[in-house]
Amino acid sequence: MHDISIRPYQKEDREALRQICCDVADRGGPIESFFPDREIAADLLTQYYTDYEPQSSFVAVNQGRVVGYINCSLDNRRYGLVLLWILMPQLLAKAIKRGLFFKPQVQEMFKGALKNWRRLFSWRKKSFHSHQGHIHIGIAADSRGKGAAKQLVSALIEYSQGRGIDELTASVHGGNEKAVSFFESQGFVVRERNSMVIIRNGKEEHYYSFIYGKTIQTPNTLVSAAL
Ligand SMILES: CC(C)(COP(=O)(O)OP(=O)(O)OC[C@H]1O[C@@H](n2cnc3c(N)ncnc32)[C@H](O)[C@@H]1OP(=O)(O)O)[C@@H](O)C(=O)NCCC(=O)NCCS
Repeated sequence: MHDISIRPYQKEDREALRQICCDVADRGGPIESFFPDREIAADLLTQYYTDYEPQSSFVAVNQGRVVGYINCSLDNRRYGLVLLWILMPQLLAKAIKRGLFFKPQVQEMFKGALKNWRRLFSWRKKSFHSHQGHIHIGIAADSRGKGAAKQLVSALIEYSQGRGIDELTASVHGGNEKAVSFFESQGFVVRERNSMVIIRNGKEEHYYSFIYGKTIQTPNTLVSAAL
C-alpha cells in the first residue's frame, strides 16, 4: 500500500520541485553528469512553470514530503515567448555573473547544441502555437514504481480538459527506457523522432529525442463519445 497523494502545486513546494528536477534530469539521474550549475539548470527547467503558470502543476506527496511533480504549460506559444523574452535574458546575465561559460561542460554543451540546430527549427515550426501544451514529470528515485507518475498524469489530464488545448506532449530521451515505457503505458504515442547529439567528456553521444503526444478531449467530445 503506497500512501502517495496528489495535490496542486503551491509556492512552498518550489525548492523541493527544483531539487527533484535536477536529481532526475539525466534519464533519471542527477543533472551534474552533463551540466555543472544546479541553480541555473533549475531556473531553466522549472522557472516558467513555478513562476508563470503555477496553476498547471501538481505534486505527489508521501508523508508530508514532496516526492514528485508534473509541470505543464497549457500554451506553448506563451511558454516560448516568456522563455525567450523574459527568462533567457535573466538567465544569461546570471550565467555570466556565475562564470558559467568558462566551465568545460558548458562549452561542450554549446558545441553539441550547434549540431542540433535542425531540432530547434522543427520545434519552432511545429510546437509554437497555443492549442498545444507540454509536460515535464519527475519522481524521486526512492519513490518510483509506486504509481506516483500515473496519478500525476491523470490529475493533469483531468485538469487540462476544456482548457483550450488539443494535445499534450512530452519530450523523452530515446535511451530513457523507464520514461518510454511510462508514456506508452499512459496512452501517449510518438509524434516525432529527432536525431540529437550531446558531447560529454570530449565524446559525441548520438541519441533520438522522442516527442510523445496525447490528444486531449474537450468536454463536448467527451459527451458525444458517450452518446
Ligand atoms: C518515468 C517516471 C516518471 C515513472 O514514474 P513512476 O512513478 O515510477 O511510474 P509509475 O509507478 O506511476 O508507473 C506507471 C506505469 O509506467 C510504466 N513504468 C514505470 N516505471 C517503469 C519501469 N521502470 N520499467 C517499465 N515500465 C515502467 C509501467 O507501465 C507502470 O504501470 P504498472 O506499475 O501498472 O506496471 C520516473 O521513472 C522518473 O521520474 N524518471 C526520471 C524523469 C523522467 O525520465 N521524466 C520523463 C521525461 S519528462
